Amino acid sequence: MDIKKIFKNNKNWIVEKLKVDKNYFKNLAEGQKPQILYIGCSDSRVSAEDLMGVQPGEVFVHRNIANMVPNTDLNVMSVINYAVSHLNVKHVVVCGHYNCGGVKEAMLSKDLGLLNPWLRNIRDVYRLHHTELDLIINKDDKYNRLVELNVQEQCINVIKTAVVQNALLEKRITVHGWVWDIHTGELVDLKIDFDEILKEIMEIYRLT
Ligand code: CO
Repeated sequence: MDIKKIFKNNKNWIVEKLKVDKNYFKNLAEGQKPQILYIGCSDSRVSAEDLMGVQPGEVFVHRNIANMVPNTDLNVMSVINYAVSHLNVKHVVVCGHYNCGGVKEAMLSKDLGLLNPWLRNIRDVYRLHHTELDLIINKDDKYNRLVELNVQEQCINVIKTAVVQNALLEKRITVHGWVWDIHTGELVDLKIDFDEILKEIMEIYRLT
């Protein structure tokens, strides 16, 4: 990839946008009112806006390795707080994807240096669900299920924050767990039943 080509692409993109709407950038500059916060993986193949078919201004996006929501990560916590209490998004989505390199690496007995503490969160997801995961013989099926369970646990981490708990109590937000199937391009709603999952543990995490 020639880096100069990026700037050429950018110029072409501006021309295309202005051809359709000469006020496009003027309107864009006026502000954002996204209804969705999307937390996804940094993987270069998982292009958030493209796979959802959304335009600039429609989705507030946060991406990191393996779509994690660690409790002590100031970055993702700031994004959630800002999206929920200032932008007033109506939906928070955690979107994982099959063939996630982060999830695969987390399952190897390998020292990955700085990445160790980050990926340890995925090992914790495995530990929480090892009874189910240990029963899966096929390695790919096991990784894929871990991808799904990781999405579920990161959604629960979203719900552990005070700002989301308040928004849920006021019924102005919905949390969703999705997986993008890299083999077919299909976006799959995991239809996670948070009421059921949180029934036993919510009292522990309740802040409000
Ligand atoms: Co990934």
